[in-house]
Amino acid sequence: MNEGAGTPLRVGLVGAGFISRMYFDTLKRIQDEVRLVRIADVDLARAVETGAAQGVPGGSVDELLADPEVDVVLNLTIPMAHAEVATRSLEAGKHVYDEKPLAVTVAEARSVLDLAQQRGLWVGCAPDTVLGTGIQTARRAVDDGMIGPPVAATATMAIPGHEAWHPNPDFYYAPGGGPLYDMGPYYLHALITLLGPVARVSASSSRPVTERVIASGPRAGERVPVLTDTHITGLLEHVDGAITTLTMSFDTVGTRTLPIEVHGVEGSLLVPDPNEFSGTTSLKRRGEDWVELPTSAGYENSARGFGLLDFHRTPAGEVPRADAGIAFHALEIMESMMRSSVEGRRLDLGATAGRSRPVPLTSI
Ligand SMILES: NC(=O)c1ccc[n+]([C@@H]2O[C@H](COP(=O)([O-])OP(=O)(O)OC[C@H]3O[C@@H](n4cnc5c(N)ncnc54)[C@H](O)[C@@H]3O)[C@@H](O)[C@H]2O)c1
Repeated sequence: MNEGAGTPLRVGLVGAGFISRMYFDTLKRIQDEVRLVRIADVDLARAVETGAAQGVPGGSVDELLADPEVDVVLNLTIPMAHAEVATRSLEAGKHVYDEKPLAVTVAEARSVLDLAQQRGLWVGCAPDTVLGTGIQTARRAVDDGMIGPPVAATATMAIPGHEAWHPNPDFYYAPGGGPLYDMGPYYLHALITLLGPVARVSASSSRPVTERVIASGPRAGERVPVLTDTHITGLLEHVDGAITTLTMSFDTVGTRTLPIEVHGVEGSLLVPDPNEFSGTTSLKRRGEDWVELPTSAGYENSARGFGLLDFHRTPAGEVPRADAGIAFHALEIMESMMRSSVEGRRLDLGATAGRSRPVPLTSI
């Protein structure tokens, strides 16, 4: 948090798996401000090999946590390990930036955030896609009143499932996985950014098949048990009155539905894919044709890891935009949707998150 203008934030990366490659690309690009200094993995050989390839020491999590050169732990482990790795990192005096979801349960996430507060440390969480020009330009259109008071949104993620491309897709079908916990955070962070927090949810969910077959890599042909629901539809009632219909599915062969549409009294917006940092926002105002809006806000050329850059640039006294408060609210929405489906009733949420500060158009 602007702990020394001119001094880079030093990152220790835990979990050198699939997604780490995208972070390596980003960290190289922004190394003057946010620099990778060490890598760890429970798979020591992988840590050592990846460290060598990235030109930093690679080893155990204990070694990384004991390294005084590490300011912040970038936690890219699987969802079930997020809370444990975050807790150990905070106990070692490190800030934490987690991949999504923040934790598998709200209770776990709450204890991580309580510990961070006690220690005076920061926890941030992906997705930071909402800091890019795509969602920020759409947010600006809403904030500037281009669609009038928001009424409704639809958010749809409908795909066949990640076993089609991921060599180790087990965690996507375990508790903490499924389409809602895996992809929901992108959509929920975008919806909270666009329409504000959610007060109440209801949902229905299903699990049409109980095994998935891995399609690629050394385990191709192996069957993975499905231990969580894989099709979920819910209604989110935002505090300010708009109602979102959210569908997250690993049981869909194909779709032509747009990722997010937002409708207001005076106009409608087509919002770019919240899994991406950029994209075009289109606006239709009552009685007019569709127009593409010029890019007007957000970090240009951003990519996974910009939440850390934003943290580093945040002036003292301000809340970094990728603060885990939003991820906590998203997790509470997801957990409540799953509970609503089981219990067959609408649920009020206990907490809400404020929207993060808008990102002015910023070139990097
Ligand atoms: N932002 C994105 O676009 C995106 C995309 C895919 C996955 N993800 C998220 O990133 C995370 C990692 O996904 P992935 O696809 O890279 O998974 P992966 O299985 O390929 O990699 C996870 C790595 O973490 C290590 N690990 C697991 N538990 C650990 C522990 N307790 N301590 C240390 N290391 C541990 C594993 O050995 C492995 O190397 C997940 O939370 C996932 O939801 C994000």
